[in-house]
Amino acid sequence: MSEIKWDDSFSLHIEAIDQQHKKWLDIYNAMNKLTTVGEQDPNMQSQMDILQAMLDYSRFHFDYEEKYLHQHGYAELVQHSKLHKEFEYLIYQSYVALKEGEGVLNLKLLGIIKGWLLNHILIEDKKYAHAILSPYDAKKICPKKTLDSGGNHLCT
Ligand SMILES: [Fe+2]
Ligand SMILES: [Fe+2]
Repeated sequence: MSEIKWDDSFSLHIEAIDQQHKKWLDIYNAMNKLTTVGEQDPNMQSQMDILQAMLDYSRFHFDYEEKYLHQHGYAELVQHSKLHKEFEYLIYQSYVALKEGEGVLNLKLLGIIKGWLLNHILIEDKKYAHAILSPYDAKKICPKKTLDSGGNHLCT
């Protein structure tokens, strides 16, 4: 699985949240690295540690984001929080399965996590940024993520 490189097309133009998303992707990338190595040399403790780190950071970020959305009166907060809960549950379940020897941090799980993170930041989180930011700032948000022939992200 390829890593996720943060670039401006991820930006919501809300500094604190952009910083948290960067840190979140760092944890995903560490998980990705570990899985590639882990498939040859499974080390359950390090897999559990990284899932725990993903769970802890997701909880911290969701809590921060939901308070922020509440303060700004975001109308879709309930639906947005449900998406957060689904992800938290997926990571929690995976952690428990791993702990009980019934699961493994594999490429299938990693693919699901990657897809969820990309969809959530690029689609769902951008929805609230558009609703909350001033029209001037909202215009800075990259509307669509596409790649040029060199693999660079473009905002079109
Ligand atoms: Fe979110
Ligand atoms: Fe977020």
